[in-house]
Amino acid sequence: MKKLMVWWRNLINIQLDSVIKTENDYYNTELNCMFRRANAQDIRGILMVERDVYFGELPWTYTDFFAEISINRQAAFFVVANQEEIVAFIGLRVQKNELHISNLAVKVQYQRQGIGQALIELGKDIATRLALKQLSLEVRFSNKDAQAFYRKLGFHSDKILKGYYTELKEDGIEMIYQID
Ligand SMILES: CC(C)(COP(=O)(O)OP(=O)(O)OC[C@H]1O[C@@H](n2cnc3c(N)ncnc32)[C@H](O)[C@@H]1OP(=O)(O)O)[C@@H](O)C(=O)NCCC(=O)NCCS
Repeated sequence: MKKLMVWWRNLINIQLDSVIKTENDYYNTELNCMFRRANAQDIRGILMVERDVYFGELPWTYTDFFAEISINRQAAFFVVANQEEIVAFIGLRVQKNELHISNLAVKVQYQRQGIGQALIELGKDIATRLALKQLSLEVRFSNKDAQAFYRKLGFHSDKILKGYYTELKEDGIEMIYQID
């Protein structure tokens, strides 16, 4: 059984690596932005996006981003760049039979222009190519704007996660998008 699990995990690693190379990098002419896979040099820019949307707070530290961008082989980050400026990012991680959205943010000045939607479409595309069954994420109970955004894109609330955000003493909501 253990051998089977290792084989499966290696297979997932290979698959994830094989679909997230430069073939996913593209220039979105409608949004005038570059969508590309993130590397460790992007973390400073990513932290600036985080600071912008969370009013100076940093829910994820440099180390958290580094682990998902440079160490975890089952994870990847993508950034959206307007010339040199990083304006948005999404974090994706393979977990069992689903693609988990670990983090997502768009700088306030760039919101409501379709960037978040384009990043979710990228996630849906990768999940489909990996033959994964669903996309999942957790969102704070009070973050009604993000819940409305995900609902618009076909996600549904799955369950309440009691006390999920321990430092904020707040419940979370798990949201799911089913791949056809
Ligand atoms: C949630 C977030 C990523 C959305 O990104 P975005 O680029 O602004 O979203 P889009 O422009 O692609 O929006 C697509 C659709 O989602 C819905 N939507 C987006 N933001 C919304 C909001 N604040 N309130 C209600 N609906 C919203 C709308 O239907 C929108 O289409 P429309 O603009 O034509 O009406 C962005 O607001 C953000 O970074 N928020 C702060 C960080 C955060 O909460 N991240 C999620 C943590 S789980």
